[in-house]
Amino acid sequence: MLAGKSLLLTAGPTWEAIDPVRGITNHSSGKMGYSLARAAGDLGIRVTLISGPVCLTPLSGIETIRIQSALDMYDAVHRVLSKQAIDIFIGVAAVADYRPLEIHAQKIKKSTQELSLRLVKNPDIVASVAALKNGRPYTVGFAAETQDIERYARSKLQAKNLDMIIANDVSEVGVGFGAEQNRIMMITQQQTITPPKGAKSDLSAAILKHISKQLTP
Ligand code: PMT
Repeated sequence: MLAGKSLLLTAGPTWEAIDPVRGITNHSSGKMGYSLARAAGDLGIRVTLISGPVCLTPLSGIETIRIQSALDMYDAVHRVLSKQAIDIFIGVAAVADYRPLEIHAQKIKKSTQELSLRLVKNPDIVASVAALKNGRPYTVGFAAETQDIERYARSKLQAKNLDMIIANDVSEVGVGFGAEQNRIMMITQQQTITPPKGAKSDLSAAILKHISKQLTP
């Protein structure tokens, strides 16, 4: 089983500042990632959680590093990986794909009818972990999809060179972003497993059980 293994996971959204009072973010509440961290801790796994800005109660007994932006999250992930051996990495966070090229030092004034923001691509955190030559953990991503769920998730599994991807349908009301429940598919190269829709806590236990089977076949 997974007791005694080390798990690094990301959760929540990122916040990409535009100026001191505005930014780009998304609807991730952190519930899925925090739920996985809690379930892993309860199994005796050593968990490090890297969390974007969320309104959840901090998890007792779980080492948590709070960050804001995708670049902060990237740095925090690689700082942990450079200091300790990590067996499993799970990217649950909804990381902003783009950030403003420039962060304005002062609040932008409402002076013109139109305002353009130039965005630049953020590094792909989960792909950078999967690309590690030394100390590569078993690497799991999440995929938030609204259509053709399995096909799009499988293409991310390949493109990012992941060991597993957990796809969730974020178009369905009552699951996915912000919800207490989720509907997921656990996808590896060999198979797709679709547990019934359920509480994020129950699905977290199912995900960890499936990872455990992959690591100790
Ligand atoms: O937080 P909750 O409200 O509970 O909602 C949970 C969730 C819906 C956010 C979660 O279950 C989920 O699907 N998380 C991934 C959302 C997402 O951003 O998916 P994506 O398809 O854009 O990214 C695919 C994978 O690449 C993810 O593992 C993501 O963490 C990772 N990624 C994406 C961009 C980037 N620059 N770096 C990354 O590591």
